[in-house]
Amino acid sequence: MSESKENKVLITGAAGMLGSQLLLAVPDGVETLGTDLREAPGVEALGVDLTDPDQVSQLFRERGPFSGVIHAAAYTAVDKAEEEPELAERINGMACGVLARATAQAGIPVVIVSTDFVFDGEASVPYEPRHPTNPLSVYGRTKLSGEQKAFEAHPEGTRVVRTQWLYGPRGKHFPGTILGLLEERDKVRVVSDQFGSPTSTLELAPALWDVLLKGSEGIWHATCEGEGSWYDFACATVEFAGIDDREVQPCSSEEFPRPAHRPPYSVLDCERLTALRGAPMAHWRDALKTFLGS
Ligand SMILES: NC(=O)c1ccc[n+]([C@@H]2O[C@H](COP(=O)([O-])OP(=O)(O)OC[C@H]3O[C@@H](n4cnc5c(N)ncnc54)[C@H](OP(=O)(O)O)[C@@H]3O)[C@@H](O)[C@H]2O)c1
Repeated sequence: MSESKENKVLITGAAGMLGSQLLLAVPDGVETLGTDLREAPGVEALGVDLTDPDQVSQLFRERGPFSGVIHAAAYTAVDKAEEEPELAERINGMACGVLARATAQAGIPVVIVSTDFVFDGEASVPYEPRHPTNPLSVYGRTKLSGEQKAFEAHPEGTRVVRTQWLYGPRGKHFPGTILGLLEERDKVRVVSDQFGSPTSTLELAPALWDVLLKGSEGIWHATCEGEGSWYDFACATVEFAGIDDREVQPCSSEEFPRPAHRPPYSVLDCERLTALRGAPMAHWRDALKTFLGS
């Protein structure tokens, strides 16, 4: 991407957990337009329906030219999506196609943020980007639909970045939930049979910028290094928050049923990103320690 005066990147979902961190991590020389449903620092609520091609074209005409787009807006309520599949498909599926078409017309790249939930979790080694998908939930199916619609509309410019188990300074997240629960009680039970890589948005946001500014089309996997269960994630949260007098107890997914099925093992192989950046993202335990300030 050129460093011209047209170096202005559109960020959708800019008030969200990841989007807000993308704004804080903007590289030097890059201008941004952050949009979302609601206003937030540096974010405009433009009222643009991202599933409407005319409204998106108008946004590009009136607020562009853009040099790239990072699409972080999504329907992220994984369990509620089971009851609202059409709405989830509009936001997670259709909007990706519409944005990709607009970026194709503008001749610019688009980063589509996606998820490990496109896999069924039956693997025993980290998923490579080209591994066959098989989502288990409405959320996973609609995110996969978004990936496919974006590639159909803009094969040369679409960069799908799948990530997982996000937490960060803004928004509701797992470490915050665990610490909140342990303010009220001495122990908490957490599932120990689902494995992934907890990923800090502080680590992910610069990686997404690198994929936009230095990467190329195709599928990318981007998570913190290492793997663990939700139980491991909770134990590390307690350890780094310095409240090890509280108890985290392991339990099985069967004991804690949820409306949406989760993949039991969805660690992602991030080799392509590591090659682009010359180093892997931080280990999840180090990133969590940094986040919790110890
Ligand atoms: N969180 C995770 O663990 C995780 C894991 C893997 C992948 N991802 C992906 O990472 C991306 C960012 O997730 P996040 O955790 O930052 O989610 P988030 O905090 O829920 O942010 C998503 C943002 O999109 C906005 N949004 C929802 N519907 C919209 C619409 N129709 N038009 C425009 N904006 C809309 C939301 O606004 P409201 O809040 O007002 O609805 C919210 O501000 C998403 O693509 C998500 O699928 C997340």
